[in-house]
Amino acid sequence: MKNNSRISKFKGAVLLAITASLSSYVMAQTAPSSADQGKQAYVINGCWGCHGFVGQGGIAGPKLAPDPKPIEYIDAFVRNTRGTMPPYSEKILSKKDLADIYTYLKSIPKGPDYKSIPLLN
Ligand code: HEC
Repeated sequence: MKNNSRISKFKGAVLLAITASLSSYVMAQTAPSSADQGKQAYVINGCWGCHGFVGQGGIAGPKLAPDPKPIEYIDAFVRNTRGTMPPYSEKILSKKDLADIYTYLKSIPKGPDYKSIPLLN
């Protein structure tokens, strides 16, 4: 009997391990990508208000995408700017959020080449 209960405990542990790895697999399938999270952080932190929803630039801020500048540049700028744009410390905008914003900006596709649009030629 003693042996049996040990075996069923073992089975329970195996079952738990399988369930845990399965559910983390399912979670990974449905978790938002870091570009999605970056888009969220971009909206929540108000970047869109000055730079436009897809970083295209607006009245209040220059364009950020497509082809964003390197993350080192963006990080240094966003943390230390003393111009019109308010600086964002790591307390307000975490390193991860800024990295995700960068991933989002990189994911924004270029518009078509004007040469491929007959009306513009
Ligand atoms: C209140 C308006 C405003 C908000 C909000 C804002 N920016 Fe800016 N941003 C600017 C302006 C204006 C500039 C141009 C430089 C300056 O005058 O400070 C700029 C410049 C930048 C630059 C440098 C662009 C370059 O090519 O040199 C980056 C990168 C940037 N912003 C990222 C962000 C991110 C990321 C956020 C959100 C976390 C954000 N900005 C929020 C107004 C804003």
